Amino acid sequence: TTPLRLGIAGLGTVGVGVVKILRQKANLLADRAGRPIVITAVSARSRDKDRGVVLSDYAWEDDPVALAKRDDIDVFVELMGGSEGAAKDAMEAALAAGKDVVTANKALLAIHGHALALAAEKADCVIRFEAAVAGGIPVVKALTEGLAGNEISRVMGVMNGSCNYILTRMQSAGLTYDQVFEEASQLGYLEADPNLDVGGVDAGHKLAILSSIAFGTKIDFAGVELEGIQRITIEDIHHAADMGYRIKLLGVAQRTGRGLEQRMSPCLVPADSPLGQLEGGTNMVVLEGDDVGQIVLRGAGAGEGPTASAVLSDIMDIARGTRLATFGKPAEALETARSAVSGTS
Ligand code: HSE
Repeated sequence: TTPLRLGIAGLGTVGVGVVKILRQKANLLADRAGRPIVITAVSARSRDKDRGVVLSDYAWEDDPVALAKRDDIDVFVELMGGSEGAAKDAMEAALAAGKDVVTANKALLAIHGHALALAAEKADCVIRFEAAVAGGIPVVKALTEGLAGNEISRVMGVMNGSCNYILTRMQSAGLTYDQVFEEASQLGYLEADPNLDVGGVDAGHKLAILSSIAFGTKIDFAGVELEGIQRITIEDIHHAADMGYRIKLLGVAQRTGRGLEQRMSPCLVPADSPLGQLEGGTNMVVLEGDDVGQIVLRGAGAGEGPTASAVLSDIMDIARGTRLATFGKPAEALETARSAVSGTS
């Protein structure tokens, strides 16, 4: 049987997690996929850094674009991050060279996802991105595959673990926003640019990706109404608690008479509801479909194991020959969000 050959760009937390799983579970994965899955080449910023994994079996490329175009890879696995620059160049190069792409890059998809989806179709390639939204929770697959026959009325949830950590820790320890922000920063919970987390941008990227799949609309991150958690005070948290509520950075996407509504903002949720009880760095996504009713998915939204788990699910899809359109239908057929008027309500 023909092995599936991977080129992995980016060896941070997620990249290292993916390499570890591919090494430790090679037999199990090959067994399930019906073919071996092998790493051919890797690329990262620093070659010498000790990452706790053996990389000497793989070819090394300093340049991710060169990696993406190699003749001896079938799939380009992009785990570098960033909406512009190297990650974008490399993904475009991979598609132009006829490679399938697996990525965890929410920012890149939220901003350039439509153009990339068009490029993928033109090249007869697929782009899979389970790890881009809510880490280990298989929410992209739930929407694209599990709920493929449903008319989706609403997608909702807590999609940034760092913000949820800050808000729950303020509540439980009675600390100020600045104190907990500093703590989260020390613990390494925040993105390199923490404004992406606390400004709601990272969660907004994820919501834009999910709503494109759920509502069949062209991805529209600019259309997400964004408000972060920077102005939430400990007094706000206490007042909310006195009334039986918790404050959560909540994303909601739904069809309305005026088109698609997408909001990511601090919201009051009942303290005893599943969302109200969501603690620490956990994520929760609520999906509502006409046939299935309501589904609640909960799990780790970040971290080595959970995020690598999601990347592996995409690699397995490709190894098994699953060929899905990027956002669930042909990119040309995606409607603009404004004209996506309610079909159900
Ligand atoms: N900073 C993100 C979070 C990482 O806290 O959810 C996962 O995308």
